[in-house]
Amino acid sequence: MKHTLLALCCSAFCLTAFSQTSVKPTIIPASVISVLNTPPEIAIIPEPVSLTKGEGHFVLPENVAIHATVAADLKQAISFLQERLSQPTGSYVSTTTGSTATAQIRLILNEKENHLLGTEGYQLSVTPSHITIRANKPAGIFYGAQSLIQLFPKEIESKELVENIEWAIPCVEVTDYPRLGWRGLMFDVARHFFTKEEVKQYINAMVRYKYNILHLHLTDDEGWRIEIKGLPKLTEVGAWSVKKVGTFGDFIPPTADEPRNYGGFYTQDDIRELVKYAKERFVNIMPEIDVPGHSLATIASYPELSCTPGAENYKVRSGEKIMDWSRGAPPTALIDNTLCPANEKVYSFLDTVITQVAALFPFEYIHMGGDEAPFNFWEKNDAVKALMQREGLKDMHQVQGYFEKRVQKIVEAKGKKFIGWDEIMAGGLPTSAAVMNWRDVKYGKEAALQKREVVMSPAAYAYIDYMQADAITEPRVYASLRLSKAYEFDPIPAGVDPKYIKGGQANLWTEQVFTIRQAEYMTWPRGMAIAESVWSPVEKKNWPNFFARVEQHFKRLDVAETKYAPSVYDPIFKVSRTADRQLSIELSTEVPGLDIYYSFDNSFPDRFYPKYREKLTPPKDATMLKVITYRGKNPVGRMMNMPIEEMNKRAGKK
Ligand code: ACM
Repeated sequence: MKHTLLALCCSAFCLTAFSQTSVKPTIIPASVISVLNTPPEIAIIPEPVSLTKGEGHFVLPENVAIHATVAADLKQAISFLQERLSQPTGSYVSTTTGSTATAQIRLILNEKENHLLGTEGYQLSVTPSHITIRANKPAGIFYGAQSLIQLFPKEIESKELVENIEWAIPCVEVTDYPRLGWRGLMFDVARHFFTKEEVKQYINAMVRYKYNILHLHLTDDEGWRIEIKGLPKLTEVGAWSVKKVGTFGDFIPPTADEPRNYGGFYTQDDIRELVKYAKERFVNIMPEIDVPGHSLATIASYPELSCTPGAENYKVRSGEKIMDWSRGAPPTALIDNTLCPANEKVYSFLDTVITQVAALFPFEYIHMGGDEAPFNFWEKNDAVKALMQREGLKDMHQVQGYFEKRVQKIVEAKGKKFIGWDEIMAGGLPTSAAVMNWRDVKYGKEAALQKREVVMSPAAYAYIDYMQADAITEPRVYASLRLSKAYEFDPIPAGVDPKYIKGGQANLWTEQVFTIRQAEYMTWPRGMAIAESVWSPVEKKNWPNFFARVEQHFKRLDVAETKYAPSVYDPIFKVSRTADRQLSIELSTEVPGLDIYYSFDNSFPDRFYPKYREKLTPPKDATMLKVITYRGKNPVGRMMNMPIEEMNKRAGKK
């Protein structure tokens, strides 16, 4: 979502249009609501393929023995369980090589493969006396351990000792395996830099939900984040901008005397450490080097890679406006942030970068971006014109296609597979290039129909940088994606052969995300919805049931001190005009069974205030509508202050 930035210049009308179309209000029968009001005892996310509840409970003793059939292969799962089970409980968790019968937790790699489980599936059995996790491969044991942890009381998430709790879990029989093999989260560490420790924190949160790919967006106009030997300016110059806060995209252009000390980068040792850390948690890191657009940090470092005179004066972007989106895609660049496709130095530069990236990241794919390249500087460039003539290229899409083909060759020469954003298809790239869909789902379908490998991350369902509720409470981004809409994500679009769909992912762009706490807020709970969409059987998806589990996970994340957004409890405002042009306000909630209380007198409503029952027309002199949601006697939503003027704007002319 890079064109958020256009967006920020966009009107309140635009914000409203998005925020009001993303949720289909659902009528929930009273019987379901009463079920929802009783928290589920078992709340695993993503929902397992099959789970049967048995009689009784297993209670964790003070001394716990873990027995693993092949301990060396299962060391990650063992140390994960040792840490997670001992820290909050104070139990002594050891491993035993003795007889299985004495161990309370048994981790068993199947000697004879169970085909149903594949490489990531598992079976989890909890009886009053012991716990068994079976799988074909270590990854399956690890995912079984994740589900096991979710069966314990929420206090198991504590990093400190919790006393006076019985660590009891219900007896269950679970068989579980993923719907798709690519379950990704993209973390944009270019717009804002996140430290190595923060990336680890993000990985720890994602593995709870059985994500297995962390896509790191390592380069953009705002920063180059990876050390490349022999190209020192990428990190001496390209990793640093001027610190700004507020609404990104409209920042005042920095002056020459403002310090360029905001940012950072990962050394090659840092990258190796992160790759290892992720791998130990069954996560592959996929690097993205975003070219030919989004390359201002590169050009600020090595201006000769641009074909525009004057690029020597370019600076890494600090959130000022550099792109005009008013005429749609492709955008018009106000300064040239593209690499020059007609310059051989660009390809030798990319060869150096890709050689080192390929050596650092064992994952089989390298993502080479390819999105939102503006053409206006290429169009007026003599070298590009000569290239077009020489190669018989008819338009700028073909020019980009020429560039992508050459980059694909470089990537493949390093023994890696090439993947890029869905724009890369426009220039006739060989079908060996995989596509990551981000625009309309139709581009993902088109890629699959061309028999390409496809990863689905369509913005309408999977862009977790979008606002989660109304723009009056959320940091401004040009579009909204509520939790219920993210939960509708189906990574396998109708009408395509599923064998081309490698999987799906959620993307966290960070123009408006300045801290790791905000990254967590944006990721959870929508990351749970996407995780369930890529892991669980589609026929098991059920919004009220999912949300009841999400609420249990909110409590777990509270204990874990991981931030999440409570925006799902915020009411949805829909405004219109009556026949006599009065403002009419309709309120609804995404969550079943909530009451909305309101005031027009500027005081803070509680449940003794008027309850919303039908459309409202504000009293003549009112300036503010304040609303809050309750479940029974308990407030669950945030106090929302909606100016009448804002609603009048959204409703259009009186
Ligand atoms: C993108 O959001 N431009 C991939």
